[in-house]
Amino acid sequence: MRICIIGTGYVGLVTGACLAEMGNDVICVDQDTDKIALLKAGQIPIYEPGLKDLIERNSEQKRLFFTTDFKEGISKSLLCFICVGTPEDSDGSADLSSVLAVASQIGDCINEYKIIVDKSTVPVGTAEDVRSIIAQRLDARGLESLEFDIVSNPEFLKEGNAIQDYMRPERVIIGTDNVRTAEIFKELYSPFIRTSNNPILVMNIRSAELTKYASNAFLATKVSFINELAILCDKLGADIEHVREGMGTDSRIGPRFLLAGPGFGGSCFPKDIRALIATSNKLGHNLEICEATSRVNQRQKRYVAKKILDYYKDENLREVVIAVWGLTFKPKTDDVRESPALDIIEILIEHGVKIRAFDPQGINNAKRILGDRVIYAEDSYAALEGANGLAIITEWNLFKSPDLNRIYSLMKTPVIFDSRNILNPEEVRAHGFTYFSIGRG
Ligand SMILES: NC(=O)c1ccc[n+]([C@@H]2O[C@H](COP(=O)([O-])OP(=O)(O)OC[C@H]3O[C@@H](n4cnc5c(N)ncnc54)[C@H](O)[C@@H]3O)[C@@H](O)[C@H]2O)c1
Repeated sequence: MRICIIGTGYVGLVTGACLAEMGNDVICVDQDTDKIALLKAGQIPIYEPGLKDLIERNSEQKRLFFTTDFKEGISKSLLCFICVGTPEDSDGSADLSSVLAVASQIGDCINEYKIIVDKSTVPVGTAEDVRSIIAQRLDARGLESLEFDIVSNPEFLKEGNAIQDYMRPERVIIGTDNVRTAEIFKELYSPFIRTSNNPILVMNIRSAELTKYASNAFLATKVSFINELAILCDKLGADIEHVREGMGTDSRIGPRFLLAGPGFGGSCFPKDIRALIATSNKLGHNLEICEATSRVNQRQKRYVAKKILDYYKDENLREVVIAVWGLTFKPKTDDVRESPALDIIEILIEHGVKIRAFDPQGINNAKRILGDRVIYAEDSYAALEGANGLAIITEWNLFKSPDLNRIYSLMKTPVIFDSRNILNPEEVRAHGFTYFSIGRG
């Protein structure tokens, strides 16, 4: 099929590359001229495992193109995927300005039947807004009889595993009120579910829009639940690792998203849960569980920072240096949006603590937010030189089996704050460290 992807970020690039990999003809459009220039030159503006190979191969085989020319992308395609960002607005709701701007551009460009696909995460009712904006623009051009359809096709990929998630989705959600469009989408996605037999779920547009928010809010709630219990474990002397194993082996609960840590972050969970709350508030209905999930998450980041600050309470904090391992919101990405590491670092800096940070992929993005208030190290061990403590905030694999003797020799005082529970407490203590984790008593 001929496909136009509008917005070449984490979702747009993966969607474009994976659809091209299945043999579709894909044009990716973005308003960011620098990004498109990079992509045209064969460079990838984000870090996502496997993405570079996929883009290179499909560009070489002339199934994947990049442009800033909306008209070119849209006019050559049957399906136009909207993959632009929907960040948080000042009142917590989703800022739809990019989605609606793209809708206007589509209305200004199309000259024949198109299917417009909302892949961005958007509040219920947005597809109707997109439809009416396109219809208004067509009216203004005297093309009111030109037909088009709107589909909601929310995306569930996880950064760091995005290619695999896209190529083998656990389910595909198609929101449409049109049987013919549903068939086109079943055809488009059938190669992706051929071996897994996972379902393509067709539903009405509003249900599809809500399913994405419902999924994220539920997963975020699981994370906040285990984090809340981890604090209780610290107070009771219980071990959250045992508790989560005991809970997670119950098939009704399941083991995933039950890892205690410094709170959830990223470009989705925090903003999506707040957008869902905002949607519901406008209708006079409080989402009590979602509100608690969001509050608990804020508290969790403060809890980690407080653990660190409490340890040095008798010292002059201006002389305390903390090495931070991990700046991204999760491993295997360069994305630092709403990363707990950034909030924790901000609290520490506010109290005068000096930070030496290392992250395998996230330093450039973190620099844009933290600037020169932090010293950035070239590798994980360089961050430790002269440090009074090590805070592990993101569970990159390379932090999981570190050389404890080397760490000991580099640090000024051997203290580790392991906010992901990735190290073995007995082993770390046996190497002479004072060791704190989350919820392990
Ligand atoms: N990142 C994820 O893991 C993920 C997963 C599922 C869903 N989502 C949702 O997908 C959407 C996109 O997320 P993302 O992380 O890919 O965002 P992103 O910020 O990485 O990328 C958005 C892209 O859209 C471009 N853009 C913005 N306005 C534009 C316009 N008017 N015309 C053309 N291009 C424009 C930007 O230049 C940027 O390249 C969001 O709604 C997000 O919530 C994200």
